[in-house]
Amino acid sequence: MEKNNIKKTVLTGDRPTGKLHLGHFVGSIQNRLKLQNEAEKSFYMVADMQALTDNAENPEKIRINTLEVAIDNLACGLDPQKTTMFIQSQIPEIAELALLFMNLVTLARLKRNPTVKSEMKQKGFGEDVPAGFLIYPVSQAADILFAKANLIPVGEDQKPMIEQTNEIVDSFNRIYGETFGHVSHLVGETPRLVGTDGNSKMSKSLNNGIYLSDSDEVIEKKVMEMYTDPNHIHVEDSGKVEGNVVFMYLDIFDSNKEEIIELKKQYQKGGLGDVVLKKRLAKVLSELITPIRERREKIAENPKAVMDILQEGTKKAREEAIKTLNEVRQAMKIDFF
Ligand code: TRP
Repeated sequence: MEKNNIKKTVLTGDRPTGKLHLGHFVGSIQNRLKLQNEAEKSFYMVADMQALTDNAENPEKIRINTLEVAIDNLACGLDPQKTTMFIQSQIPEIAELALLFMNLVTLARLKRNPTVKSEMKQKGFGEDVPAGFLIYPVSQAADILFAKANLIPVGEDQKPMIEQTNEIVDSFNRIYGETFGHVSHLVGETPRLVGTDGNSKMSKSLNNGIYLSDSDEVIEKKVMEMYTDPNHIHVEDSGKVEGNVVFMYLDIFDSNKEEIIELKKQYQKGGLGDVVLKKRLAKVLSELITPIRERREKIAENPKAVMDILQEGTKKAREEAIKTLNEVRQAMKIDFF
């Protein structure tokens, strides 16, 4: 039963800049999997055009990872029967829609978008930011609105994109007539996963991620190097739980909550070594990742089948885009021939 009468159209996507990690998994993939069973329609986009906005000189990287992120999502359980999986660049109507939306957004507003702001800082762009990168929130609004999606499962960092999309919806409807509905975001239980180094966000560019394709050995090595409490030197020392990455991960990924409470007490009191905890965490993470990695390897054996899924999905999604664009052209009085 629907909670209200609005039918859910879910849409989400990834930039294909690298393989996906645990931060993606808890931040949005888990929600995608759940929602594909509840939604009236569900879309998944490989946002290769968006990835190119700050990777203009690395087209090969984006191309390779277009396949990789699709495989990651399939391995996690995204089901092409339930979710229309497609490639952004193959739907030119999205680009056209973005160009039309561009008139409704000011440069000042784009520069104020907190996510764009922090990404610009991280990438050291300053005033030399590629124009395409600065306007990617507008193109993301087009990603969402071409499908008239209303529910967007994303990581916490994507909230400002949804806010900007809703501003575009309001402006569009006010000027050209009621065309689009408002969009909501849904963040996962863990909207932001800290990196293995204790940095506030797991991210490829910070090199602090555990990937859905990592082997047991790699997982164990990364866990062993995790940030804990630098003052917890001897086993008998009392240790700090707050800010301790191993405990943060155990809280999220270890289902035995009672034992974790006990372990925390013991750690604080002294007498519990980091290695014991790390071994436990490595095991928990291996149990989560191994089936995904194994499915991943199997799916990767047949890249043509993955491309076929994407091609079929793209065809289906494009039909929606064409419909929406016709409506938009009419509303904007540019439907000449
Ligand atoms: N910006 C998103 C990210 O970096 C990817 C993305 C592109 C997206 N278009 C989208 C997410 C539309 C949700 C809806 O992760």
